[in-house]
Amino acid sequence: MEKMWSGRFAQDASSLLEKFNASIMFDRKLYREDIEGSVAHAQMLAHQGILTQEELVSIESGMAQVLSEIETGSFEWKIGDEDLHMAIEKRLTVIIGEAGKKLHTARSRNDQVALDFRRYVLRKNSEIAEKIQLLMSIIVDISREHTTTLLPGMTHLQHAQPINFAFHLLAYVTMFKRDVERFQSSYERNNISPIGCAALAGTPHNINREMTAKTLGFDSVSVNCLDTVSDRDFALEILFNISTLMMHISRISEELILWSSYEFRFVELSDEYSTGSSIMPQKKNPDVPELLRGKTGRVYGNLMGLLTVMKGLPLAYNKDTQEDKEGVFDSIETIEMSLEILGEALKTMTIKPENMARACKLGHLSATDLADYLVEHCGVPFREAHFITGRAVARAEVLNIDLSEIDFKELHTIDDRIKEDVTRYLSIEHSMNARTSQGGTAEVRTLEQIIYFDNYLKDAKL
Ligand code: ARG
Repeated sequence: MEKMWSGRFAQDASSLLEKFNASIMFDRKLYREDIEGSVAHAQMLAHQGILTQEELVSIESGMAQVLSEIETGSFEWKIGDEDLHMAIEKRLTVIIGEAGKKLHTARSRNDQVALDFRRYVLRKNSEIAEKIQLLMSIIVDISREHTTTLLPGMTHLQHAQPINFAFHLLAYVTMFKRDVERFQSSYERNNISPIGCAALAGTPHNINREMTAKTLGFDSVSVNCLDTVSDRDFALEILFNISTLMMHISRISEELILWSSYEFRFVELSDEYSTGSSIMPQKKNPDVPELLRGKTGRVYGNLMGLLTVMKGLPLAYNKDTQEDKEGVFDSIETIEMSLEILGEALKTMTIKPENMARACKLGHLSATDLADYLVEHCGVPFREAHFITGRAVARAEVLNIDLSEIDFKELHTIDDRIKEDVTRYLSIEHSMNARTSQGGTAEVRTLEQIIYFDNYLKDAKL
């Protein structure tokens, strides 16, 4: 097969090289960005008098045909064409003849691929941000129903203080909001046009980079062409953003796995989003959160992969850079599916408040409240209150009861400054509702957080 670059070659490329060198099997995903970029470039060339109006019209109509051939599946992707840029340009030239050969004026595949890939990644930054907001709204809706559902809050995976279930879920909503902001800020930082940089040094043709940038929706034009054709920071950013998001998803997944075990039984995943065992008939396995946790590995791998590809590359374009795409495509595909299935798994799971409430009676969750009572009502310094409470906990252990259920007389024996009204302070519900400081778990504060996220999500495209 005749290559576009075959002028200086006497022999054909080996078929092994063709296979090794090609990116067409995966970069064809960028066909829309490539065609839009070419049309915008041709319009600019015509505006500058580098192409005639007729040539532009024929490029535009030829590209419309190429687009429809790709979208209807009749376009022939051939490994010998090497990459989508050459495949599309070649097909265009077959369709429209001479004008097709002028399209590559003042352009190189180096700025072309930088343009296509950047625009694809920018679009995905926005789409993923929207998908996260959808997940946030699902979690906020569940939270609304559970502002009084008591749950043992933990540190070190040990019972610590009572919280409500909504408060716990809203911690994830807060994380996901940061994720949205990360994708949005990557979009804003990288919305800069690379087209017109040509191979590395710019071009002697009288082009108008502002014009192509504007047509393609960029905020500005890149400053230094040498950097522009070698920059893949935008790809690294989306890989990092996805990695952080996936880390958050893996944390909530881990909790779903724990919570759906018989030891916790705080939730039960729906049949629709659980799987069975091939040998143990009774099993219902949390494969969805397990896979979400597991897929975090490949997403981190993709980030490390590209960081390593880019490390030590001399300026400007090097073929190594072609290795930038598959990992990004894989991470994007993984995160899009992960966000969707996590939302479905959460929406369809059964929440078991009675089991959460039972767990709240284990581990003396209101111990801090006894210490706070001693500080507030008996004027005891906190360190001493901590010690007295420790003795009360030891007594409850001996009696084999939870501190929230201890008779006040037992406490009075330990320290006679403790009065009967202490009982109220030791209830689990009171303990949760006592934490009224800003951002705390008290129902009033949790409701405020729901309002905060409702307001935030009001403007989101859900
Ligand atoms: N297929 C190449 C890539 O994905 C396009 C750029 C090729 N440029 C070049 N000078 N060989 O990176």
